[in-house]
Amino acid sequence: MGIETSVANRKKKELATMEMERNNPGGPTQVPGPKTNRAKGKKSRRRQQQQKLVAAASPVQKLYDICKQVFAPCGPGIVPAPDSIEKLKAVLDDIKPADVGLNPQMPYFRTSVPGRKPSIRYLHIYECEKFSMGIFCLPPSGVLPLHNHPGMTVFSKLLFGTMHIKSYDWVVDSSSKTPGVASSSKVEEGKQEEMKQPEVRLAKLKVNAEFTAPCNTSILYPADGGNMHCFTAVTACAVLDVLGPPYSDPDGRHCQYYFDHPFANFSVDGVSVPEEEREGHAWLQDREKPEDLTVVGELYGGPQIVDR
Ligand SMILES: [Fe+2]
Repeated sequence: MGIETSVANRKKKELATMEMERNNPGGPTQVPGPKTNRAKGKKSRRRQQQQKLVAAASPVQKLYDICKQVFAPCGPGIVPAPDSIEKLKAVLDDIKPADVGLNPQMPYFRTSVPGRKPSIRYLHIYECEKFSMGIFCLPPSGVLPLHNHPGMTVFSKLLFGTMHIKSYDWVVDSSSKTPGVASSSKVEEGKQEEMKQPEVRLAKLKVNAEFTAPCNTSILYPADGGNMHCFTAVTACAVLDVLGPPYSDPDGRHCQYYFDHPFANFSVDGVSVPEEEREGHAWLQDREKPEDLTVVGELYGGPQIVDR
């Protein structure tokens, strides 16, 4: 928001200057300031114009401009039009690590303490009520655990590295249920505590694969495309995420984390899945934010954006 305010003030000043020049173009009633001040003013305006030209050429600026356009008519659960999605995807597909000031040698991508889950860095680029832009930097073995994106359309562009993505969508008409039978022998180690009386909901596996940059942008939707996903860094990697709309606790869009359990672990009355499709289904169970998940906010150091 600070960006918008400062730009608005600058625009006001520019308009006032243009207005003065139009009303009084060097006429006899004009009282010119000292020559040095006028020269300084010209220089400053030229510098501002140059900055705008540089910003216009920046891929991040293009991304911001298109996001502003694409997400303007959207809101929670309202997906952008197909042609808008294609336009935004095309801009993201072209973005390279250097365009956002990143390279794999930066300290963000080093594993810090051996044996401990590495910290993940988040470089915040921009956020307004319609959309947010930011980059997750993951050292090797870094994990963004299974989480959701309520009512959102999310564009994820892998900038470099290899990442495993596992994602799910809810099975249509499924709701949270308490299973009648849970086979404790099948419960994964470390999950017993949460397994006492878990409420679970049936989900369909959407993606379970490794991706290596350069690759196309992946997109998920409020009810499709893998709205719940988990990122695991196979190598150091960086993902540029665009969320529309962003998470917002006051508006009830908070990030929920999940355990995923194989379909065979539970039996729920009235729920059946054909034998051959069971591998492609799982039970998701709400969980608290994992204690070993550390996401540290860092200053974004790439090209800045200008609200035009
Ligand atoms: Fe996510």
